[in-house]
Amino acid sequence: MDWGLKNRIARIISPADNKALMLAVDHGYFLGPTEKLEDLEKTIAPLAKYCDSLMITRGALRTSVNPDYPVPIVLRVSGGTSIIGEDLSQEDITVSVKDAIRLNATALAMSVFVGSKYEYQTIVNLGKLVSEAEEYGIPVLAVTAVGKEIGTKDARYLSLACRVAAEQGAHIVKTYYCENFEKVVNSCPVPIIIAGGKKIPEKDALKLTYDALKAGAVGVDMGRNIWQSENPVAMIKAVNSIVHGTNNVEQAFTLYKQLSGKPNNNKPTQKPNNNKPTQKPNNNKPNNNFKN
Ligand code: R5P
Repeated sequence: MDWGLKNRIARIISPADNKALMLAVDHGYFLGPTEKLEDLEKTIAPLAKYCDSLMITRGALRTSVNPDYPVPIVLRVSGGTSIIGEDLSQEDITVSVKDAIRLNATALAMSVFVGSKYEYQTIVNLGKLVSEAEEYGIPVLAVTAVGKEIGTKDARYLSLACRVAAEQGAHIVKTYYCENFEKVVNSCPVPIIIAGGKKIPEKDALKLTYDALKAGAVGVDMGRNIWQSENPVAMIKAVNSIVHGTNNVEQAFTLYKQLSGKPNNNKPTQKPNNNKPTQKPNNNKPNNNFKN
């Protein structure tokens, strides 16, 4: 594998533990001003220093992220439909690789809609994007999108969709967690990251994270379950304590409650490890200079 490609993947999936915490804030590309993401800058600023990378659109990046803050960018380059339109699967590539390079994107992300009316178009787009991006050493993350039925597909479908994306050359695949998730991971030759999906109680979202990692996912690309949480910073730190730390669900939930300043009625089964940062140290990142 080319050095540049390897280096960029290493900025998304930490080589220290082969895990990734991606913060998803690209929802507006088809949902418009999603709840708690109406003001992009206000939502992103306090969270960006706790993720490994930020999944975002070109417009949101330019308008709402301080270019002085070196968070790796996974740039969404597909779109063309909206939630009130006819068919979410009719996506095309909307951002050129040249513009992605200009924006210093670390990776490109696009959706494939396997089994949909427009599967051919989206799968061919993926193949072409991989060919073009590889010329510049840029990895492609394929999202196995399922349109309006988000999160309702089973392991049989998701295995097929992930495998199709990987066979087209996607370097990372993002999909949804499901029962028998090992089947999805084991039949996909590239790393899998899961989406968080719609907002669920914090403890359930932490369980989703834990179960997905246990089944072999390398990490999460989580949005609503972080920034729609009552305490987004506490939540991203709790998710991080599972992804990059050793916390189980109870320990991570205890950490979430502690950081939220909530009384802890359930005694922790294990004390949080105060010697260990809940965020992996990143010496390249300034501590607190993100525009707020
Ligand atoms: C869907 O394709 C969007 O691109 C989001 O990035 C993705 O769904 C992850 O966000 P959430 O955790 O809110 O589902």
